[in-house]
Amino acid sequence: MVCQQDQPIVRMVQQHMAGRPVSFHVPGHKNGTVFPASLKEWKNIFPYDLTEITGLDDLHQPEEGIAEAEHLAAEVFGAERTWFLINGSTTGNLAMVMAAFSPGDQVLVQRDAHKSVMNALKLAGVRAVFARPEIDEYTQLSIGISREILADAWARYPSLKGAVITSPSYEGWSSDISSLAEFVHERDGVLLVDEAHGAHFAASPLLPKGALAQGADVVVQSAHKMLPALTMSAYLHVSGSRVSRERLSYYLGMLQSSSPSYLLLASLDAARHYVHTMQHEGWSAEQLSAQKQQLEAVIGSRLIQPPEHVAPDPLKLMVPVPEGYTGWEVQEALEQEHIYSELAGSSYVLWTLPLTSEHINIPLKAVERVWEGLEPRNGNRVPSFSMFELFPRLSEGAREEEPGGEEWILLESAEGRTAAAPLVPYPPGVPLWLEGECMDAGRISYARDLLQNGGRLQGGRKEDNRFFVKVKHREKG
Ligand SMILES: Cc1ncc(COP(=O)(O)O)c(C=O)c1O
Repeated sequence: MVCQQDQPIVRMVQQHMAGRPVSFHVPGHKNGTVFPASLKEWKNIFPYDLTEITGLDDLHQPEEGIAEAEHLAAEVFGAERTWFLINGSTTGNLAMVMAAFSPGDQVLVQRDAHKSVMNALKLAGVRAVFARPEIDEYTQLSIGISREILADAWARYPSLKGAVITSPSYEGWSSDISSLAEFVHERDGVLLVDEAHGAHFAASPLLPKGALAQGADVVVQSAHKMLPALTMSAYLHVSGSRVSRERLSYYLGMLQSSSPSYLLLASLDAARHYVHTMQHEGWSAEQLSAQKQQLEAVIGSRLIQPPEHVAPDPLKLMVPVPEGYTGWEVQEALEQEHIYSELAGSSYVLWTLPLTSEHINIPLKAVERVWEGLEPRNGNRVPSFSMFELFPRLSEGAREEEPGGEEWILLESAEGRTAAAPLVPYPPGVPLWLEGECMDAGRISYARDLLQNGGRLQGGRKEDNRFFVKVKHREKG
């Protein structure tokens, strides 16, 4: 019987290495004995980059250390079953949507979902009904899906089979999941939650309550975003029996690599142990609060907060930029001081802080230098622009069409045309247009402002400062 003090995958790998194994198997670096000279400083990592061989279990049929580690993770995160993911929440989102729904099912989807959710809908062949989230009046940021939105959607589309929502948002603002779960379950639907930014919530009661604890059926979390885990490592958790575990396993088997790196698997195991330790030893937000106050003194204004009824994540700092500046400009200025932000918006930069009981060190002197270097700009306030309000309140996803002709045209001349590919501001990765959506003036102007202000858009093409988008040929007649 394993216990939470154990780290079964870490242990398995260490035991394997202790036997000084000779590798006549993949990967080709042979336990780090053959590797490119340019990577010599990474030499110590290579030996642990093992994959499935005797004694190391099998991610797709776990019976030993991986099964034990997944079991321990389920316990810590409050799930009935947990799967380890080695291709991020992206795979988790694909698998949960494909497992929970069948082709042709009608499903409510929060429109400001990450592109992986949108791709999942396409792969699953479901008919999406998109819902615009509630929008905070002050920041114009998404505050997620409310029960009223669900009620509207179910009144108009009573055959909905469930909802896929994102909580918390990139900025760390959570929806009231228990109320949404209750609503959806009363209608025999399932509630799937992309909780990519909330893997740390189980660590402390001082953090917002996670989606599993509030009754969601399937929850996907990027361990790598807010826990000390390697990039690409993630969890998929299931609770109850509304979504078939067999189908989840089936789709994960299809979507995940057959050669998972034990660097990622061990880091998922160790991250679970980290959360467990924090659950027992406690975490204090006092030093963090003190740092925030010092930061506010340096920048001369309060950090941005969500509206009162929304639970904020204390590890996400929304730092407002001085009047007349955009978040992208300040992001660049901070990078001159080697301070890298998670993302920038029109009037703020977002920082994600570490989940640690150690001292958190915000480089206040460097921030002060940046703020002092920003010449006052006549109090010109840059209007904060938001794309969320540009989405219709409720809209049906475009139907799968016969492949037709496509062409690249200038963004400015795309009004009224049908998008032939998603166009995605990155970060945060929420598609401005999905394939098949009509390109309207509001979103064209948003995209232009974003590009002019230094934002990035995936899915278009830049040539000589002109931006092209892919659209469907106009129908003849
Ligand atoms: C809300 C949300 N969901 C899913 C993802 C995809 O996560 P991953 O990078 O772990 O694949 C992201 C990535 O930024 C995200 O922001």
